[in-house]
Amino acid sequence: MTNEKRSSFTGKIGFVLAAAGSAVGLGNIWRFPYLAAKYGGGIFLLVYILLAVSFGFALMTAEIAIGRKTGLSAIGAFSALQKKYTFIGVLASVVPVIILPYYSVIGGWVTKYLYAFVTGGAVATAKDEYFDGFISQTTEPIIWFSVFIGITALIVLFGVEKGIEKVSKFMMPVLVALSFFIAIYSICMPGAWEGVKYYIMPDFSKFSATTVLAAMGQLFYSMSLAMGIMITYGSYMKKDVNLESSVTQIELFDTGIAFLAGMMIIPAVFVFSEGTPEALGKGPSLMFVTLPKVFETMAGGTYIGLIFFLLVLFAALTSSISLMETVVSIVCDKFKVNRKLACLLVFVFSVVLGLLSSLGYGVWSEVKIIGMQFLDFFDFISNSVLMPIVALLTCIFIGYVIKPKAVIEEVELNGKFKRKKLFEVVIKYIAPIFIVLILVSSVLDAFGKFSI
Ligand code: PHE
Repeated sequence: MTNEKRSSFTGKIGFVLAAAGSAVGLGNIWRFPYLAAKYGGGIFLLVYILLAVSFGFALMTAEIAIGRKTGLSAIGAFSALQKKYTFIGVLASVVPVIILPYYSVIGGWVTKYLYAFVTGGAVATAKDEYFDGFISQTTEPIIWFSVFIGITALIVLFGVEKGIEKVSKFMMPVLVALSFFIAIYSICMPGAWEGVKYYIMPDFSKFSATTVLAAMGQLFYSMSLAMGIMITYGSYMKKDVNLESSVTQIELFDTGIAFLAGMMIIPAVFVFSEGTPEALGKGPSLMFVTLPKVFETMAGGTYIGLIFFLLVLFAALTSSISLMETVVSIVCDKFKVNRKLACLLVFVFSVVLGLLSSLGYGVWSEVKIIGMQFLDFFDFISNSVLMPIVALLTCIFIGYVIKPKAVIEEVELNGKFKRKKLFEVVIKYIAPIFIVLILVSSVLDAFGKFSI
């Protein structure tokens, strides 16, 4: 982001909407429902909400506060607070570099579905084989992936994010309204009730360390935490905006959309595939396979589907822009190149890395790293390994190096910090201990599966 943009968020609404623009994206609509479906439904939802009001709240408050305190993005902020700890900022910056390419591959899938709905292919997309047929090809997914990342790069290159933000401020409420409508439609389908129960009622026998890790990784991913992005947003936040209530609003917004997306998709899995473990465990393809079937049964479903994919594309673009912005500014600072060149470098690098993810579903589907396809592997490394590590280091840094007081003071610039005690306890004790336990057990688990 350019300098003149610092302090450009006008008031609280401006800040909340901008941060929500980065937070709300494919993570909410595509990733959350497939994880919830896979990891036991209600138990995943419960763990996610508990984590959101504790870890999510504490980390987002901390990141925005250190951003606003220092007026700098991740690397600069950590270095300004304690030079020795600059490496946390550096590590945080690696995350968006890994996410951007594969995020754009999924963005490409959304673009393809939008195109199919526009050109009268909606009925075909509802067929079981459609999605697999599409992603197992070589060139087509690559073309859509390039279109998506190309649009993102052009927006970042020409600095027209402002325009996009304006449009998305209008699109976002429409997305919420449409999601409500589709979710209600979904749960009214015959046979959907079993799915609603599965999604809402926790089944404690399905609880495991992997459930918690998946929920934690999802929390970081969905709220754009543990990768320096909220630090950057904080650096643009005015001192007179209430930090604590902004965090609450961003969290509510983000979690609300994820919850609705689950409601659209999970009951429908029960309607169309009887909620079998295979159907629920589909993973990244779940939204693409399920929603077109819902649209097919709806009167005017082609139009609803078209508007839906258009809105999802916008939500995905506002997120990919914030990802690319971050990576471009890191490249500018680190290699002392101008923005144009930095954009080009990031674009080329992301295309190359994204190609692996795209081809991993097609001709390279046999290639596995610790038992995973490329896309799943990049997703695992960023969400289940790097982000928890960055979150852990951030907690230790704030809890024991600069002390929670540094953050509390910043929050209290605008009145009382209502959940101060909760913040302190989570940052100092609960989060660090918990993250270590979960991280160790799940990484052992991933490698354990591999060695069998
Ligand atoms: N939070 C975004 C989502 O839910 C993804 C994202 C991650 C965006 C990191 C920016 C930075 O889709």
